[in-house]
Order: sequence, then C-alpha cells, then structure tokens
Amino acid sequence: MKIDGKHYRTIWPAAGDAVDVIDQTRLPHCFETVTLRTAEDCARAIGEMTVRGAPLIGATAAYGIALAMREDASDEALGRAYDLLLATRPTAVNLHWALKRMRDALRNRPRERRAEIAWQEAAAICDEDAETCRSIGAHGLEILRGAAAKKNGMTLNILTHCNAGWLATVDWGTALAPIYVAHDDGIPLHVWVDETRPRNQGASLTAFELGAHGVPHTIIADNAGGHYMQTGEVDLCVVGTDRVTANGDVANKIGTYLKALAAKDNGVPFYVALPSSTIDWSLNSGREIPIEERPPDELLKMTGRLADGGLATVEIAAPGSAGANPAFDVTPARLVTAFITERGVCEASGEGLRSLFPERR
Ligand code: MRU
Repeated sequence: MKIDGKHYRTIWPAAGDAVDVIDQTRLPHCFETVTLRTAEDCARAIGEMTVRGAPLIGATAAYGIALAMREDASDEALGRAYDLLLATRPTAVNLHWALKRMRDALRNRPRERRAEIAWQEAAAICDEDAETCRSIGAHGLEILRGAAAKKNGMTLNILTHCNAGWLATVDWGTALAPIYVAHDDGIPLHVWVDETRPRNQGASLTAFELGAHGVPHTIIADNAGGHYMQTGEVDLCVVGTDRVTANGDVANKIGTYLKALAAKDNGVPFYVALPSSTIDWSLNSGREIPIEERPPDELLKMTGRLADGGLATVEIAAPGSAGANPAFDVTPARLVTAFITERGVCEASGEGLRSLFPERR
C-alpha cells in the first residue's frame, strides 16, 4: 500500500544482512523504519510489538530464522532461533506456521546452502502473504458488493475491530483488503473503526491506513459499536483473526467477542477474514487457544502526541490499582456469518473450512 505516494510493504530486505520494518509503536505520529539484523532483533520486534498482526508476526519470524542462518547455519543455531522466536507471542498461530515452514525448508539441507535457502523461503512467505491477502480482498469484494446492492446507492457502513489491514500483514491486509478493493471499485462505503483498547490499534493504525488510502472512516469508542448496530448504522462487521480452530472458533483482539454478540443480537452479518496460515488444524475448540496476557501498564497508561509534537506516556488509572490485560478473546463459530479466505468464502464451521481445504479432510 502507499504512504505519501510511495509503495511500502511492512517488511523488506535491507542493505547488508538485514531487514527493515515499519515501527508500528510510533504510528500514527511518526513514520519510522527500524533495521533488524539478528534473530534476537526480530524476536524483540515481535515481543515489543514494533511489528504485530498475525501474518506479519509470521513473516518477521521467518526472516529471524534467515538472519540466524547467516550467522551460524548449524542445527543447534536453527533450534535456538526457532525456540527464541516461538516464545515471543503465544496466540497468533501464523508464528508457528512460519517457523515450521522455515525449519522444514532447512532440515536435511547442506549447511553451506542454508543461509541462501532460508532467505529465499522468508521472501517467498512474504510474497505469498501479499498475494493471499489480495485474493481475500477479491473474494470479500463480492460480499461487500452484495451488501451495497441492498443500500440503493446509500453508503455502506462497515465496522471493524483492531487492525487487520496492510500493517498487520505483508501487504493489503485481511479484513481491510475487501474494503480497499471495494473502495477502489467505487462502492460508497464508510468504516466505523473501534479504537481497540488498550493499545488502540484501531485508532492509531487502522485509521492511519484508511486515511492514507482515502477511505472514509470514523473512530469510535470500543463500547459504541453495539449502539450503532441497534440504531441501524452498521450494515456488516468484518474483522481479522490470530487463530481459527478446526471447528471454526475464532481468536482475535480482545473485544471481538462482544462485537460478535452485539452483531448477532441485531442481525448484523459478522465476517472473519483470514489466510489459511491462520487456521490451526490441530485444535478442535477455541477453548484450547492460548490467550496472551500482556503487561497491565498497557491498560493503566496511554501514550499520545503533545501539542509541541513530542510523544508522552501518561498514567490514566487510580494509583495502586491492579490491571488485567488479556490481549485476545475467542468468538464461537456460531456467531460468525462466514469466513473470507484466499480460496473463497465459506460457512464458519469445521465443515465449511474443509470444503475450501479438502486436503485437510
Ligand atoms: O496484538 P496485535 O496487534 O498483534 O493483534 C492483531 C489482531 O488482533 C488482528 O486482528 C489479527 O492479527 C488479524 S491480522 C490480519
């Protein structure tokens, strides 16, 4: 996608043995890139959320393995980098998927070729992610087109939670890809952007992306979505996901479940967009998904821009109060209208997933 007319992906090879990423902790106030030179740099970038979003976490981990192989291509070094990167964030299964794919590509390959093979595999993961998300956009377009047709030329109102746009992937995004394609196709649409407490990925990242692409949008408090659904101002919801289990349960950013409940109560369609790398075929229920607990400070403090342009972090809670910060929740498949994947749209169920991925039967 473009920033100030220049095309960017979220991760790309840099001069020397390195990759560059966009520092997402500084957006929307500063657009800065960071150079990652080692597997440790990649692990830190994932853990501190310099990069975030399930597909981008996987892509960064893949480059982490590739950077490790440039330093030391032994089995021991591969194992160390794998374990280090795997321990960064527990919920997004794309991390496991990308690391396993890298390990499989390197297993039983000659040491002297491993650095080159790993670099090529990481680049392939990135290219495939961009293409996959483009396909999700094309399939999702049909849904948005159908919904817009019922509006008789009036604006289609779409609600999204967190950031499942190009910043969360290598390019395009998952939930936002159909929105970009539909907007470019001339469908009049407007996006309600949940602020997404506590880290505000909606207010700071989704709004930044949509604004850069010229998509009309409004940031709302997380608690406002239900109200807008009751008043008929949301035509459909579309969100991303960090892990979908084999029965169709969906883990996504904390607060997604409440939006799905409100959508069900108000008869608003609730779509989940995902690449197949987000499906965990080994789990049969969302109850088995590990939910990341993040530091309470993310809840008790907020960072923003001062009038002089500097960034500042302030405390917003009563001193001494404890905070609990689960980063994700699970939306049962029964609350999801359909999945939008790179292979097409399917019912949100194990049977629906297997109809698109028959090799998993
Ligand atoms: O904690 P984050 O910012 O990594 O969480 C991101 C999300 O929850 C996204 O909705 C999800 O990764 C889908 S990304 C296309």
